[in-house]
Parts: sequence; structure tokens; C-alpha cells
Amino acid sequence: MSSGRRVIGAQIGTSTYPIHLGAGAIGDLAAEWPAEASGSAALLVYDENVAHIAETVRAAIERAGKQVVSAPVPPGESSKSLASVERLCRDAAAAGIRRRDTVVAVGGGVLGDLAGFVAAAYQRGIGLIHVPTTLLAMVDSAVGGKTGVDLPEGKNYVGAIWQPAMVVMDTTTLDSLPPRELSCGFAEVIKYGLLDGRELFDLVDGWPTLPGPQEPLVDLIQRCVAHKLGVVAADERDLGMRATLNFGHTIGHGIEAAAGYARYQHGEAISLGMLAALRISSELTGLPESWRDRTRAVIARHDLPVQLDAAVSTEEILDATRRDKKSDGRALNMVVLDDVGAPSINADPAEDLVIAAIEELRQ
Ligand code: GLY
Repeated sequence: MSSGRRVIGAQIGTSTYPIHLGAGAIGDLAAEWPAEASGSAALLVYDENVAHIAETVRAAIERAGKQVVSAPVPPGESSKSLASVERLCRDAAAAGIRRRDTVVAVGGGVLGDLAGFVAAAYQRGIGLIHVPTTLLAMVDSAVGGKTGVDLPEGKNYVGAIWQPAMVVMDTTTLDSLPPRELSCGFAEVIKYGLLDGRELFDLVDGWPTLPGPQEPLVDLIQRCVAHKLGVVAADERDLGMRATLNFGHTIGHGIEAAAGYARYQHGEAISLGMLAALRISSELTGLPESWRDRTRAVIARHDLPVQLDAAVSTEEILDATRRDKKSDGRALNMVVLDDVGAPSINADPAEDLVIAAIEELRQ
């Protein structure tokens, strides 16, 4: 392994696995191939947008002595479906993928969730290696074991918690990411700043143009991952404090859905959702308003929205928010901040407070 790269040890429930992080980490994949992934083949599931990265990953898997079965997936949320799961499982079956073989997932959040669920479900579960290629997937979705697909009734309605055998975060994959994608990933980084505490928030607040210089970027990702691992290790099944990782997502998912999953990308919608959650926090916990002001400024600096489109109605956002699987049908289970670095769950904030926080996003 070359210098500048890090290995973070994840320990979640009975699973222990390494997260390789740094420029060129894909190059380590063959040498670091997990012993438990002892089968002779790998199903390489990749987003067609990152076919060039998948080629590098393919070469690394072959160096590990494995036969590679390629399974490209069209980009976009519509691929996160049961139809895609069936297609990938049948491709795996046709290629003779067996229980000790491994799914290698190359792409962003959508791809990782889909391929992860295929790994969890195929032959009652096979090995999984995540190779996240977006900032969002590195700091959030490739860590912690959530996998799943959408139903017409809602996002992530079918899924499983399935921990990988290894995660490989090669920060050079971010170099070719469109600026909008990078900004959307940074929205999750801002979230970690607010959840973790002042020190990380200050670092996030002072962040230069994305992606930023390599070594500090690796540090930043490592700190976000460390926060997430700490929370997930304490609540893998998402029955308690893991829900705090959804800060900004309650109203954010409502905005995303109400806008038909077209106007806003996930990171954009949760940027607005975080601003609403900070307003609700100020009302409920007395969080100083200056945190909302600072967050609004950092969101705007990274070309993320701070103003809600007039065409997206508050009523539709509220309806979608109630339908979100994170609410339990009655209560919204809203994440608020008692302070920066001190999140808590408010099961059911008053509706007029939520409406006012959404309306404020129009100013
Ligand atoms: N993305 C939130 C979680 O993994 O729990």
C-alpha cells in the first residue's frame, strides 16, 4: 500500500471489515482481497456512467485471481427497483455465481444500494465489496450496511442491512465527478459537521472549492466515516440513535418526492431539509439561529439551494413527509439539534412549526 492511504477498521455487530481510503486505493483491491470472499468469481455491478472506473476495478479483481462477470446498470434512481434486482440475480445465476462469490459494487448511492441488496438476497446472501465513486457514497451510503430498492409506494421500501466484507474509497474517482454531484455529496458532509460538533463544522465551513486538496479531503471523509461508524456500531438495526443520521432528511425527502424526484437531487433536497430542521431546532431546543445562518452560507457557497422552488407546494411536501418510511405513519420522527454535535429525535413536532419552517425556505 502506498503512503497517504488509510485503512479504517469498521466493527459493526459481528462484522469487522476494512475501509481502504485514499488516492489510488483501487490499486490495493487485489492485495487486500478479503479472505472470506473465497469463491472463484465476482459479479461486477457498476453504474454505466463510471464504466471507466469499473474497468480499473475489473483489472484489480482479475489480479486477485477471480473471474469477473460484468453487470452494467443504467444510471439514475429508476434502476433502484425490484425489476433490476431480478435482472441482476438472474444474470448472476446464468453466470454460475455461487455462495462464496462476491458482488463488487462500483458507483454512487443508487448503485451501492441496489448491488448491496442483490448481495444480501442472492442465494440468501453472498459477499459484498463496495467501491463508492461519489462523495455521497463515500461519506454515507457505502458505510453502515443499508441496502435496498424503491417501490412505487416509497423510496427504500424493500431492503436489508448487509455489511460488506470491504469498502474501497479511491478519492481519485471524485476528480471526474460533475460539480453538481460533488456539491450534493458535500450536503451530507455538512450534515456530519452539524451532527459531530463544532470542530468538524468549522472544517466544513472553511472548505475550499470541491473536491479540494487530497490529504485534507481524505481527512474530511475519514472524519465523516468515523462519525457514522460510531453511530451505526451502537444501533446497527436503526431502532434508536441511527435515525439521527437522517438529520435534514425528513423534510428533505418530502421535498424530493413532492418535486417528483426531478427538480432536486437528493443532496439538494436535504440541504433545504437541514435548513428547515435547524429552524425547528431553534424553536424547540433554543439552538442559536446563528447556526442556521452559518449553515445557509456554507450551503450557498457550494452551489446548493437555500430557497425552495415556488412550484413545490407545502401541502405536497407534508403529505410526502408523512408517507416517508422514516415516519411511522403518525409521528414524523424529526431529528433536531439540541446543540451542534448533540442531535435528538423529536417524535412529533407541531404541524404549524413544520409548515412555518418550510414556508421560511421560500424567502
Ligand atoms: N444514511 C443513513 C444511515 O445509513 O442510517
